[in-house]
Amino acid sequence: MPNKVQERKPSGYTLLGVMGDPIAHSKSPAMHQIALQETGLQGSYVPLHVSPEGLDAAVRGIKAMGFRGVNVTIPHKVEIMAFMDELDDSAKLIGAVNTVVHEEDGRLIGYNTDGIGYVRSLKEEAVSSIEGKHIVVIGAGGAARGIVYALLLESPASVTILNRTVERAEMIASDFKSMGQVQGLATGDSQQVLLRSDIVINTTSVGMHPNLHETPIDPADLPEGIVVSDLIYNPLETKLLSIAKEKNCVIHGGLGMFVYQGAIAFEHWFGIPAPVNAMRRAVLQSF
Ligand code: ATR
Repeated sequence: MPNKVQERKPSGYTLLGVMGDPIAHSKSPAMHQIALQETGLQGSYVPLHVSPEGLDAAVRGIKAMGFRGVNVTIPHKVEIMAFMDELDDSAKLIGAVNTVVHEEDGRLIGYNTDGIGYVRSLKEEAVSSIEGKHIVVIGAGGAARGIVYALLLESPASVTILNRTVERAEMIASDFKSMGQVQGLATGDSQQVLLRSDIVINTTSVGMHPNLHETPIDPADLPEGIVVSDLIYNPLETKLLSIAKEKNCVIHGGLGMFVYQGAIAFEHWFGIPAPVNAMRRAVLQSF
C-alpha cells in the first residue's frame, strides 16, 4: 500500500476508466473490474478512447461525470500533467502521470505508479531487497525513467543505465543524481558493469513478439546466478530470460509490473489493499 493512503471505500456506484489512443486492447478494464468485484465495490471500469485533441475536455469530464479516477496510457501520460490540480512527487520526478485520483474536494491529483509497481513486483517475485545491490537498467525511455526513480528510493549500491543512444541514458542519470549512485553508459561499453551486476532489467522492446530471437545485450556477458528481469510480457519468457535461466539466474517477467501498477492505482483510489492475485489471474485469462 502507498504511504499515507486513508481508507475511503465509496458507498455508491463508482466510475473508473483508462484513457488512451488506441485503447481497445487494454487489459486494464478486465483487471480492475475483477478488483472491484473481489473487494465488494459497486462500480465499472471502462476503456475511454480519447484523442490528443480531446484530452482537455476528457479530463474535465472526470470531474463533470464524477469519476473516482482514471488510468492514463499512451499517448497521454506526459500531456495530461498540465491538466492536473496537483502532482505527486512520483509524477513530478518521472515527468509522466499514469493514475489520476479525483479527491472528494474536487481536485485531480496525478501519480505515477509504473516504476513503483515494477519494484514492488520485483520484490514480491524475485529479490527480497534492493538495498546495496548493483543494478543495470537497459533502455532509457519512459519506462526506464520510472523504474530508475523507484529503484533509487530503495537505496541500491548503484544503478547503471545502458542505452543504444548514450545521451538519453546520461540524461536520466543526471536528472536523478541527487537520489543516489546513478550513471549512464553506451550499451557497447557494458561488459565490466554487467560482470559485477546483481540485477539486470530490460526496459526496451528488444525481444518482444515478433522479434523473439533478439536480446538487448550480448547474453554471454550475463553473470551466473544473478536476477534478470524483462518488462516484456509477450512472450512471457523472452530469449534474454531463457538464456538467464540456463545460467541459473532468478528470472522475472513483465506481467507483474502491469498488475502492480494497477494494484497501486487501486490503492490510491480506495485506500484498501488491492486483490493482486485475482487481478493477475484476470490479466492472464484475457490473453
Ligand atoms: P518506453 O516508454 O516504453 O520506454 P521509448 O521511450 O520509446 O519507450 O524507449 C524505448 C527504449 O528502447 C529506448 O531506450 C530505445 O533506445 P534509443 O534511446 O537508443 O532509441 C530502446 N530500444 C528500442 N528499440 C531498440 C533496439 N532495436 N535496439 C536497442 N535499443 C532499442
